[in-house]
Amino acid sequence: MKKVLITGAAGFLGSHLCDRFIKEGFYVIAMDNLITGDLKNISHLFPLEQFEFHHHDVSTFVHLEGNVDYILHFASPASPIDYLKIPIETLKVSSLGTLNLLGLAMQKKSRILVASTSEIYGDPLVHPQNEDYYGNVSSIGPRGVYDEAKRFMESLTMAYHRYHGLDTRIVRIFNTYGSRMRLNDGRVVPAFMGQALRGEDLTVFGDGSQTRSFCYIDDQVEGIYRLLMSDYTDPINIGNPHETTILEFAQEIIKLTGTDQKIIHKPLPQDDPLQRQPDISRAKEILSWEPKTNRAEGLKIVYDYFKSLSPEELQKKEHRDFSNKS
Ligand SMILES: NC(=O)c1ccc[n+]([C@@H]2O[C@H](COP(=O)([O-])OP(=O)(O)OC[C@H]3O[C@@H](n4cnc5c(N)ncnc54)[C@H](O)[C@@H]3O)[C@@H](O)[C@H]2O)c1
Repeated sequence: MKKVLITGAAGFLGSHLCDRFIKEGFYVIAMDNLITGDLKNISHLFPLEQFEFHHHDVSTFVHLEGNVDYILHFASPASPIDYLKIPIETLKVSSLGTLNLLGLAMQKKSRILVASTSEIYGDPLVHPQNEDYYGNVSSIGPRGVYDEAKRFMESLTMAYHRYHGLDTRIVRIFNTYGSRMRLNDGRVVPAFMGQALRGEDLTVFGDGSQTRSFCYIDDQVEGIYRLLMSDYTDPINIGNPHETTILEFAQEIIKLTGTDQKIIHKPLPQDDPLQRQPDISRAKEILSWEPKTNRAEGLKIVYDYFKSLSPEELQKKEHRDFSNKS
């Protein structure tokens, strides 16, 4: 049985990856320090013999017994609300954490895939963004802690690939949504759905003309799986190129939820990208991958998921206590 280590396994993407690798017949070693994740996302896997969980901070030394065929490094706060509150942890997990996992991959002779992001393009001056675009990122802006950490992660990964011949993969993930996102993590899909379900007005930052492209989780996981199994070592964008303005998106959520909430506007946060759309030509050509789920379908599934949450979970405004973090 092939073994895969998934870091960030108790988070949104990591937990769906655990499900997929279990389904593919892998032995899954899940690792997470639960800083933004939740054990309930993977609790259904605990009874399985081919699953184990390690409560561990990957920014400290990572040791495992036995062989590991594949490593997927997904540990990192991912929502702006999280990484603005824990900037140092965010910088550490994509720098020190990546270094530790690349070291482990060297020791175990594993193939390693790291989770990069469309944020490495910053506020892009090229549209849509293809993998050859270098990006437009402020290193000292508040979002720099995430964007620059991920850029460093990519450089480190390529250095291990070129210098040590390590078998590496880099996925640049564009906005993805699905079940197990935290309602209050500040990302736009759960934010709008939470507001609609609580009967609150929907908050749009700025005039709402900024654009985003949303990829459904199953499509994202399929793209990541194909990339891992391919022999392609340069970065690949995985996302849904179907772009929408945030204002149109808010209207779509109101229609979907059948609520009569209003849309209210608040000032645009600093360095918020104005447009975001992946060019997925490379994924199409190399991985024969493109998203299959249209937004209406995907949003309906996710809305049903959020609707099934308890009234206490729906009302929870702040999920995390980040006090005492360095
Ligand atoms: N969801 C998206 O749309 C998106 C877009 C681009 C990139 N990504 C990347 O995908 C990965 C997962 O994102 P997500 O949306 O699932 O976020 P998430 O917050 O739901 O999951 C991240 C997980 O990593 C864990 N973690 C954080 N720091 C850790 C550490 N030092 N040691 C061990 N575990 C740690 C958290 O506890 C959490 O379970 C991240 O690397 C993120 O940058 C996600």
